[in-house]
Amino acid sequence: MDSLEIKGGTPLNGEVQISGAKNAVLPILAATILTREPCIIRNVPELADVKTMCQILESLGATTKIEGKTVTVQAAKVRDFADYDLVRKMRGSLCVLGPLLARLKKATVSMPGGCVIGTRPVDLHRKAMEALGARVKVENGYIIASARKLTGGEMFLGGRAGPTVLGTANAMMAATLAEGITVIEHAACEPEVVDLGKFLNNIGAQIQGLGSPTLTITGVKELGGAEHEVIPDRIEAATYAIAGVVTKGEVTLKGARPDHMKAVIEKLRESGVKVDQSKGKLTFKRGRGLHSVHITTLPHPGFPTDVQAQMMTFMTQTPGISVITERIFESRFTHVQELERLGAEISIEGPSAIVHGVQKLSGATIMASDLRASAALVIAGMVAKGTTRINRIYHLDRGYENLDSKLKKLGAKVKRVRQN
Ligand code: EPU
Repeated sequence: MDSLEIKGGTPLNGEVQISGAKNAVLPILAATILTREPCIIRNVPELADVKTMCQILESLGATTKIEGKTVTVQAAKVRDFADYDLVRKMRGSLCVLGPLLARLKKATVSMPGGCVIGTRPVDLHRKAMEALGARVKVENGYIIASARKLTGGEMFLGGRAGPTVLGTANAMMAATLAEGITVIEHAACEPEVVDLGKFLNNIGAQIQGLGSPTLTITGVKELGGAEHEVIPDRIEAATYAIAGVVTKGEVTLKGARPDHMKAVIEKLRESGVKVDQSKGKLTFKRGRGLHSVHITTLPHPGFPTDVQAQMMTFMTQTPGISVITERIFESRFTHVQELERLGAEISIEGPSAIVHGVQKLSGATIMASDLRASAALVIAGMVAKGTTRINRIYHLDRGYENLDSKLKKLGAKVKRVRQN
């Protein structure tokens, strides 16, 4: 497993191109199996998770072609079985359930894997499929769903922590081919869900209310092919913005969508960061002084859980005591122990982390535990004095396109150490 060696203390400066959004492209690729026609997806990031999704589509009988940032998928014929060996690699693979059920009226999909960030139940996915008339059971580690036909229905998809992103995606995809009208209440409003909805409408679906908590879907008989460009990755964008500020540099994001990043931009501004928005570019730099902030992660448009870890590293460099409360996933604090290894002072009180700043961090060997935790550790390594070695960085390759070369271009002293 590769590791990353970082020599800290160099400010990040310059421009970075933001890639297509991982969490938008995965359900969009899954949605291509709703149609026999070819679909051309552009602005696809080169990521391990995208490769895994293409492998899953191939295993289901589709053909996929990756040419640079364009992926073409044609699912002329589809099988109804998604195997454990591929699905276990990431949570995103769960979103083949809805399209398979819609197309074949039956689907057997392994329970998914993904980052270890808390329990990740599938009850809302199940509820959504049942609301459309399917029978669903979990047996021998597989979700098995079947229906004589899918019929539009009403469903409320609110769970313990609010709406569900992939659950909404599955419900939307299955409902596109159901007979009649489906209403999804308490739907997720994340930009990635909106992007999936736009793709589905491009291929002939009739979805109204995208970006709001109520989605109305009028089922159609069949869907066609289309071209679609994936939205930029707001989480990658936030990660580079925070990395720039933490290292006392100035980073300009090219191609990011500020309208998708309002909560992050507001919190950074509140803590004293200067955010400049002009000519399609967003620039972040420190103002006169930084100060502590309090943050609670929430469903969109609230502060995203996927930026909680990176923000915690920021808080270690902000004078005063900051509190960050995680409301989406109950165990998403695995980075805390590793940040402490670098010298951070953080205590956990239930769902909250209390972060004491400013801490002088110093390099050490640490271990990446999940995707966003790994990003937080990379940022910490760039401020820490001396050398930090981050082991098990395969998580980063799942979600950050060309991370090391993008960081190097911004001036970071980063080296990938390859291991077999
Ligand atoms: N939940 C349920 N029942 C369900 C599904 C979810 O109770 O059937 C709960 C979860 O346990 C959690 C909450 O609902 O407490 C929200 O989970 P959600 O279903 O929205 O998460 P997800 O769809 O599995 C996606 C992203 C995650 C991101 C979350 C929240 C993808 C592939 N994954 O996961 O991204 O953190 O939404 O925004 O889109 C990442 O990119 O690092 C990542 C983990």
